[in-house]
Amino acid sequence: RTYKRQIVCRRDIDVFNVPFLAIYESLIPPEEEKLKQKQLVALLEKLVSKEWPAAKLYLYGSCANSFGVSKSDIDVCLAIEEADLDKAKIIMKLADIFQSDNLQNVQALTRARVPIVKLMDPVTGISCDICINNLLAVVNTKLLQDYARIDPRLRQLAFIIKHWAKSRRVNETYHGTLSSYAYVLMCIHYLQMRRPAILPCLQEMETTYSVTVDDIHCAFFDKVEKLSDFGRHNKETIAQLVRGFFHYWAYCHDYANTVISVRTGSIISKREKDWTRRIGNDRHLICIEDPFETSHDLGRVVDKYSIKVLREEFERAAEVMQNDPNPCFKLFEPY
Ligand code: CTP
Ligand code: MG
Repeated sequence: RTYKRQIVCRRDIDVFNVPFLAIYESLIPPEEEKLKQKQLVALLEKLVSKEWPAAKLYLYGSCANSFGVSKSDIDVCLAIEEADLDKAKIIMKLADIFQSDNLQNVQALTRARVPIVKLMDPVTGISCDICINNLLAVVNTKLLQDYARIDPRLRQLAFIIKHWAKSRRVNETYHGTLSSYAYVLMCIHYLQMRRPAILPCLQEMETTYSVTVDDIHCAFFDKVEKLSDFGRHNKETIAQLVRGFFHYWAYCHDYANTVISVRTGSIISKREKDWTRRIGNDRHLICIEDPFETSHDLGRVVDKYSIKVLREEFERAAEVMQNDPNPCFKLFEPY
Protein backbone atom coordinates (compact mmCIF):
# COMPACT_ATOMS: atom_id res chain seq x y z
CA ARG A 1 0.00 0.00 0.00
CA THR A 2 2.78 2.40 0.85
CA TYR A 3 4.39 1.69 -2.49
CA LYS A 4 1.16 2.50 -4.35
CA ARG A 5 0.73 5.70 -2.37
CA GLN A 6 4.21 6.84 -3.23
CA ILE A 7 3.56 6.33 -6.92
CA VAL A 8 0.36 8.31 -6.76
CA CYS A 9 2.13 11.15 -4.91
CA ARG A 10 5.04 11.18 -7.32
CA ARG A 11 2.77 11.38 -10.33
CA ASP A 12 0.70 14.01 -8.61
CA ILE A 13 3.69 16.22 -8.07
CA ASP A 14 5.14 15.78 -11.55
CA VAL A 15 1.81 16.62 -13.11
CA PHE A 16 1.77 19.90 -11.17
CA ASN A 17 5.36 20.72 -11.95
CA VAL A 18 5.06 20.76 -15.71
CA PRO A 19 2.68 23.73 -15.97
CA PHE A 20 4.57 25.70 -13.30
CA LEU A 21 7.86 25.26 -15.11
CA ALA A 22 6.16 26.16 -18.41
CA ILE A 23 4.84 29.41 -16.90
CA TYR A 24 8.27 30.17 -15.48
CA GLU A 25 9.94 29.59 -18.87
CA SER A 26 7.39 31.77 -20.65
CA LEU A 27 8.16 34.69 -18.32
CA ILE A 28 11.96 34.68 -18.75
CA PRO A 29 13.11 37.70 -20.77
CA PRO A 30 14.86 36.77 -24.03
CA GLU A 31 18.57 37.61 -24.39
CA GLU A 32 17.87 40.29 -27.01
CA GLU A 33 15.70 42.15 -24.51
CA LYS A 34 18.55 42.17 -21.96
CA LEU A 35 20.84 43.46 -24.69
CA LYS A 36 18.47 46.31 -25.55
CA GLN A 37 18.29 47.27 -21.87
CA LYS A 38 22.07 47.51 -21.70
CA GLN A 39 22.16 49.60 -24.88
CA LEU A 40 19.64 52.02 -23.41
CA VAL A 41 21.69 52.38 -20.21
CA ALA A 42 24.82 53.03 -22.30
CA LEU A 43 22.98 55.75 -24.23
CA LEU A 44 21.71 57.37 -21.02
CA GLU A 45 25.19 57.21 -19.49
CA LYS A 46 26.63 58.99 -22.51
CA LEU A 47 24.04 61.78 -22.22
CA VAL A 48 24.52 62.15 -18.47
CA SER A 49 28.31 62.25 -18.68
CA LYS A 50 28.17 65.42 -20.80
CA GLU A 51 26.78 67.24 -17.79
CA TRP A 52 28.43 65.22 -14.99
CA PRO A 53 31.60 63.50 -16.29
CA ALA A 54 32.18 61.55 -13.05
CA ALA A 55 28.63 60.29 -12.66
CA LYS A 56 27.84 56.60 -13.06
CA LEU A 57 24.64 54.78 -13.90
CA TYR A 58 23.72 51.48 -12.25
CA LEU A 59 20.94 49.12 -13.20
CA TYR A 60 19.05 47.88 -10.15
CA GLY A 61 15.72 46.21 -9.39
CA SER A 62 14.29 43.36 -11.41
CA CYS A 63 16.29 44.00 -14.58
CA ALA A 64 19.50 43.40 -12.59
CA ASN A 65 18.54 41.02 -9.77
CA SER A 66 17.43 38.23 -12.17
CA PHE A 67 13.83 38.33 -10.93
CA GLY A 68 12.60 40.43 -13.86
CA VAL A 69 10.03 39.01 -16.23
CA SER A 70 9.90 39.82 -19.92
CA LYS A 71 8.86 43.38 -20.88
CA SER A 72 9.52 44.92 -17.45
CA ASP A 73 10.42 48.56 -17.04
CA ILE A 74 14.01 49.11 -16.00
CA ASP A 75 15.26 50.82 -12.84
CA VAL A 76 18.38 52.95 -13.08
CA CYS A 77 20.30 54.75 -10.35
CA LEU A 78 22.47 57.79 -11.04
CA ALA A 79 25.42 57.89 -8.65
CA ILE A 80 26.69 61.42 -8.36
CA GLU A 81 28.86 63.29 -5.89
CA GLU A 82 27.85 66.90 -5.60
CA ALA A 83 28.81 69.26 -2.83
CA ASP A 84 25.28 70.51 -2.23
CA LEU A 85 23.07 67.90 -3.67
CA ASP A 86 19.58 69.12 -4.45
CA LYS A 87 17.87 66.03 -5.83
CA ALA A 88 14.92 67.94 -7.23
CA LYS A 89 17.23 70.22 -9.21
CA ILE A 90 19.18 67.29 -10.59
CA ILE A 91 15.98 65.52 -11.57
CA MET A 92 14.84 68.63 -13.48
CA LYS A 93 18.20 68.90 -15.17
CA LEU A 94 18.14 65.22 -16.16
CA ALA A 95 14.67 65.62 -17.60
CA ASP A 96 15.95 68.52 -19.73
CA ILE A 97 18.88 66.49 -21.00
CA PHE A 98 16.73 63.51 -21.97
CA GLN A 99 13.99 65.61 -23.52
CA SER A 100 16.40 67.29 -25.87
CA ASP A 101 17.64 63.91 -27.04
CA ASN A 102 14.27 62.72 -28.31
CA LEU A 103 13.54 60.37 -25.46
CA GLN A 104 9.78 60.25 -24.97
CA ASN A 105 7.26 60.68 -22.15
CA VAL A 106 9.93 62.36 -20.05
CA GLN A 107 8.52 63.27 -16.63
CA ALA A 108 10.32 64.71 -13.61
CA LEU A 109 8.66 63.46 -10.40
CA THR A 110 10.44 65.73 -7.94
CA ARG A 111 7.95 65.44 -5.08
CA ALA A 112 7.72 61.64 -4.87
CA ARG A 113 9.11 59.84 -1.78
CA VAL A 114 11.94 58.76 -4.05
CA PRO A 115 12.29 61.53 -6.69
CA ILE A 116 12.69 60.08 -10.20
CA VAL A 117 12.74 60.88 -13.89
CA LYS A 118 10.59 58.64 -16.06
CA LEU A 119 11.15 58.16 -19.76
CA MET A 120 10.53 55.89 -22.71
CA ASP A 121 13.06 55.08 -25.40
CA PRO A 122 11.21 55.10 -28.77
CA VAL A 123 13.89 52.91 -30.41
CA THR A 124 13.62 49.94 -28.04
CA GLY A 125 10.19 50.72 -26.53
CA ILE A 126 11.71 50.30 -23.06
CA SER A 127 10.47 52.49 -20.19
CA CYS A 128 12.80 53.49 -17.46
CA ASP A 129 12.81 55.16 -14.03
CA ILE A 130 15.95 56.97 -12.94
CA CYS A 131 16.61 57.83 -9.31
CA ILE A 132 19.59 59.51 -7.64
CA ASN A 133 22.12 57.99 -5.25
CA ASN A 134 19.87 55.17 -4.11
CA LEU A 135 22.92 52.98 -3.63
CA LEU A 136 21.33 50.76 -1.00
CA ALA A 137 19.00 49.54 -3.73
CA VAL A 138 22.04 48.75 -5.89
CA VAL A 139 23.52 46.69 -3.04
CA ASN A 140 20.28 44.84 -2.21
CA THR A 141 19.97 44.10 -5.93
CA LYS A 142 23.33 42.34 -5.76
CA LEU A 143 22.25 40.39 -2.65
CA LEU A 144 19.09 39.15 -4.40
CA GLN A 145 21.01 38.26 -7.54
CA ASP A 146 23.59 36.32 -5.53
CA TYR A 147 20.84 34.35 -3.80
CA ALA A 148 19.33 33.53 -7.21
CA ARG A 149 22.64 32.00 -8.33
CA ILE A 150 22.65 29.44 -5.49
CA ASP A 151 19.60 27.34 -6.33
CA PRO A 152 17.43 27.57 -9.48
CA ARG A 153 14.28 26.98 -7.42
CA LEU A 154 14.46 30.49 -5.98
CA ARG A 155 14.09 32.15 -9.36
CA GLN A 156 11.31 29.73 -10.33
CA LEU A 157 9.42 30.29 -7.09
CA ALA A 158 9.82 34.08 -7.20
CA PHE A 159 8.62 34.28 -10.82
CA ILE A 160 5.53 32.25 -9.95
CA ILE A 161 4.79 34.29 -6.81
CA LYS A 162 5.31 37.62 -8.61
CA HIS A 163 3.11 36.45 -11.48
CA TRP A 164 0.42 35.41 -8.99
CA ALA A 165 0.71 38.74 -7.12
CA LYS A 166 0.34 40.75 -10.33
CA SER A 167 -2.59 38.61 -11.57
CA ARG A 168 -4.39 38.93 -8.24
CA ARG A 169 -3.51 42.63 -7.90
CA VAL A 170 -1.71 42.30 -4.60
CA ASN A 171 1.52 43.84 -5.94
CA GLU A 172 0.43 47.48 -5.67
CA THR A 173 2.12 49.40 -2.87
CA TYR A 174 -0.05 52.46 -3.56
CA HIS A 175 -3.08 50.29 -2.68
CA GLY A 176 -1.46 48.93 0.46
CA THR A 177 -0.21 45.60 -0.86
CA LEU A 178 3.40 44.45 -1.20
CA SER A 179 6.22 45.39 -3.58
CA SER A 180 7.92 42.84 -5.81
CA TYR A 181 11.02 43.33 -3.67
CA ALA A 182 9.04 42.24 -0.59
CA TYR A 183 7.74 39.13 -2.36
CA VAL A 184 11.26 38.10 -3.42
CA LEU A 185 12.45 38.50 0.19
CA MET A 186 9.53 36.31 1.30
CA CYS A 187 10.65 33.64 -1.19
CA ILE A 188 14.29 33.79 -0.07
CA HIS A 189 13.21 33.54 3.55
CA TYR A 190 10.92 30.59 2.82
CA LEU A 191 13.79 28.69 1.17
CA GLN A 192 16.17 29.55 4.04
CA MET A 193 13.65 28.04 6.46
CA ARG A 194 13.10 24.72 4.64
CA ARG A 195 14.57 21.67 6.35
CA PRO A 196 16.93 20.69 4.87
CA ALA A 197 17.52 24.33 3.88
CA ILE A 198 17.48 25.24 0.19
CA LEU A 199 19.26 28.58 0.71
CA PRO A 200 21.87 29.64 3.27
CA CYS A 201 21.95 32.99 5.06
CA LEU A 202 24.64 34.96 3.20
CA GLN A 203 24.77 37.77 5.77
CA GLU A 204 25.63 35.31 8.57
CA MET A 205 28.54 33.80 6.65
CA GLU A 206 32.12 34.96 6.25
CA THR A 207 32.27 38.45 4.70
CA THR A 208 33.67 38.45 1.18
CA TYR A 209 31.89 41.61 0.02
CA SER A 210 31.31 44.76 2.01
CA VAL A 211 30.38 48.37 1.40
CA THR A 212 29.12 51.18 3.57
CA VAL A 213 26.22 53.12 2.12
CA ASP A 214 24.47 55.98 3.92
CA ASP A 215 26.17 54.90 7.17
CA ILE A 216 24.82 51.37 6.80
CA HIS A 217 27.43 48.64 6.75
CA CYS A 218 26.43 46.00 4.19
CA ALA A 219 28.42 42.78 4.37
CA PHE A 220 27.83 39.27 3.11
CA PHE A 221 29.34 36.20 1.50
CA ASP A 222 29.23 36.62 -2.27
CA LYS A 223 31.37 33.75 -3.55
CA VAL A 224 28.15 31.96 -4.34
CA GLU A 225 29.68 29.79 -7.06
CA LYS A 226 30.97 27.78 -4.10
CA LEU A 227 27.41 27.15 -2.92
CA SER A 228 25.90 25.72 -6.09
CA ASP A 229 25.06 22.39 -4.43
CA PHE A 230 23.91 23.90 -1.13
CA GLY A 231 20.29 22.74 -1.52
CA ARG A 232 21.05 19.24 -2.79
CA HIS A 233 19.67 17.45 0.28
CA ASN A 234 16.28 19.00 -0.23
CA LYS A 235 14.47 17.46 -3.21
CA GLU A 236 11.30 19.55 -3.05
CA THR A 237 9.97 20.52 -6.45
CA ILE A 238 8.67 23.87 -7.55
CA ALA A 239 5.03 22.75 -7.24
CA GLN A 240 5.62 21.62 -3.66
CA LEU A 241 7.37 24.88 -2.83
CA VAL A 242 4.58 27.01 -4.28
CA ARG A 243 2.07 25.01 -2.25
CA GLY A 244 4.21 25.26 0.89
CA PHE A 245 4.77 29.00 0.45
CA PHE A 246 1.05 29.77 0.30
CA HIS A 247 0.29 27.33 3.09
CA TYR A 248 2.83 29.11 5.30
CA TRP A 249 1.46 32.60 4.64
CA ALA A 250 -2.17 31.42 4.86
CA TYR A 251 -2.05 29.27 7.98
CA CYS A 252 1.33 29.18 9.71
CA HIS A 253 2.83 32.66 9.90
CA ASP A 254 2.36 34.39 13.27
CA TYR A 255 1.33 37.83 12.03
CA ALA A 256 0.78 39.18 15.54
CA ASN A 257 4.24 38.53 16.95
CA THR A 258 6.86 37.84 14.31
CA VAL A 259 9.01 39.41 11.62
CA ILE A 260 10.61 37.53 8.76
CA SER A 261 14.30 38.29 8.42
CA VAL A 262 16.49 37.33 5.47
CA ARG A 263 19.39 39.02 7.28
CA THR A 264 19.37 36.38 10.02
CA GLY A 265 17.79 33.58 7.99
CA SER A 266 15.20 33.20 10.71
CA ILE A 267 12.03 34.54 12.29
CA ILE A 268 12.50 37.25 14.89
CA SER A 269 10.10 38.82 17.32
CA LYS A 270 8.28 42.10 16.78
CA ARG A 271 9.10 43.05 20.34
CA GLU A 272 12.82 42.87 19.65
CA LYS A 273 12.34 45.45 16.87
CA ASP A 274 9.78 47.56 18.71
CA TRP A 275 7.32 46.93 15.89
CA THR A 276 4.48 45.96 18.21
CA ARG A 277 2.33 49.05 17.80
CA ARG A 278 1.39 51.60 15.21
CA ILE A 279 3.77 54.53 14.95
CA GLY A 280 2.59 57.22 12.56
CA ASN A 281 1.56 55.41 9.42
CA ASP A 282 3.60 52.29 10.14
CA ARG A 283 1.19 49.64 11.40
CA HIS A 284 3.43 46.56 11.13
CA LEU A 285 0.54 44.22 10.30
CA ILE A 286 2.85 42.00 8.26
CA CYS A 287 6.54 42.42 8.99
CA ILE A 288 9.33 41.90 6.48
CA GLU A 289 12.68 43.26 7.59
CA ASP A 290 14.85 44.91 4.94
CA PRO A 291 18.15 42.99 4.90
CA PHE A 292 20.30 46.15 5.22
CA GLU A 293 18.04 49.01 6.28
CA THR A 294 16.92 46.98 9.28
CA SER A 295 14.66 49.69 10.67
CA HIS A 296 12.64 49.45 7.47
CA ASP A 297 9.62 47.14 7.49
CA LEU A 298 8.62 46.38 3.89
CA GLY A 299 5.16 45.60 5.20
CA ARG A 300 4.66 49.17 6.39
CA VAL A 301 2.55 50.00 3.31
CA VAL A 302 -0.05 47.45 4.47
CA ASP A 303 -3.07 48.91 6.29
CA LYS A 304 -6.01 47.34 8.13
CA TYR A 305 -7.97 46.90 4.88
CA SER A 306 -5.19 45.61 2.67
CA ILE A 307 -3.97 43.09 5.26
CA LYS A 308 -7.38 41.43 4.94
CA VAL A 309 -7.13 41.40 1.16
CA LEU A 310 -3.64 39.94 1.32
CA ARG A 311 -4.48 37.21 3.82
CA GLU A 312 -7.60 36.25 1.90
CA GLU A 313 -5.51 35.94 -1.25
CA PHE A 314 -2.93 33.76 0.53
CA GLU A 315 -5.76 31.55 1.76
CA ARG A 316 -7.37 31.38 -1.65
CA ALA A 317 -4.05 30.40 -3.22
CA ALA A 318 -3.36 27.78 -0.53
CA GLU A 319 -6.83 26.33 -1.05
CA VAL A 320 -6.36 26.19 -4.85
CA MET A 321 -2.96 24.52 -4.45
CA GLN A 322 -4.42 22.01 -2.02
CA ASN A 323 -7.61 21.04 -3.81
CA ASP A 324 -7.61 22.03 -7.46
CA PRO A 325 -6.56 19.23 -9.81
CA ASN A 326 -5.36 21.84 -12.29
CA PRO A 327 -4.26 24.76 -10.03
CA CYS A 328 -2.57 27.02 -12.57
CA PHE A 329 -5.76 28.28 -14.12
CA LYS A 330 -7.40 29.44 -10.91
CA LEU A 331 -4.20 30.52 -9.19
CA PHE A 332 -3.43 33.13 -11.86
CA GLU A 333 -7.03 34.00 -12.65
CA PRO A 334 -7.09 37.80 -13.13
CA TYR A 335 -8.73 39.56 -10.21
N1 CTP B 1 13.59 48.69 -3.34
C1 CTP B 1 14.03 48.97 -2.06
N2 CTP B 1 13.14 49.15 -1.05
C2 CTP B 1 11.81 49.06 -1.28
C3 CTP B 1 11.33 48.77 -2.56
C4 CTP B 1 12.25 48.60 -3.57
O1 CTP B 1 15.25 49.02 -1.85
N3 CTP B 1 10.94 49.25 -0.28
C5 CTP B 1 14.57 48.57 -4.41
C6 CTP B 1 15.11 47.15 -4.55
O2 CTP B 1 16.46 47.23 -4.96
C7 CTP B 1 14.28 46.58 -5.66
C8 CTP B 1 14.06 47.80 -6.53
O3 CTP B 1 13.97 48.89 -5.63
O4 CTP B 1 14.97 45.56 -6.33
C9 CTP B 1 12.83 47.75 -7.38
O5 CTP B 1 11.71 47.48 -6.58
P1 CTP B 1 10.40 46.79 -7.11
O6 CTP B 1 9.83 47.59 -8.22
O7 CTP B 1 9.58 46.43 -5.93
O8 CTP B 1 10.94 45.43 -7.65
P2 CTP B 1 11.34 44.89 -9.05
O9 CTP B 1 12.23 43.74 -8.72
O10 CTP B 1 11.91 45.94 -9.92
O11 CTP B 1 9.99 44.29 -9.59
P3 CTP B 1 9.12 44.50 -10.89
O12 CTP B 1 9.52 43.40 -11.79
O13 CTP B 1 7.70 44.33 -10.40
O14 CTP B 1 9.41 45.87 -11.43
MG1 MG C 1 11.03 47.38 -11.18
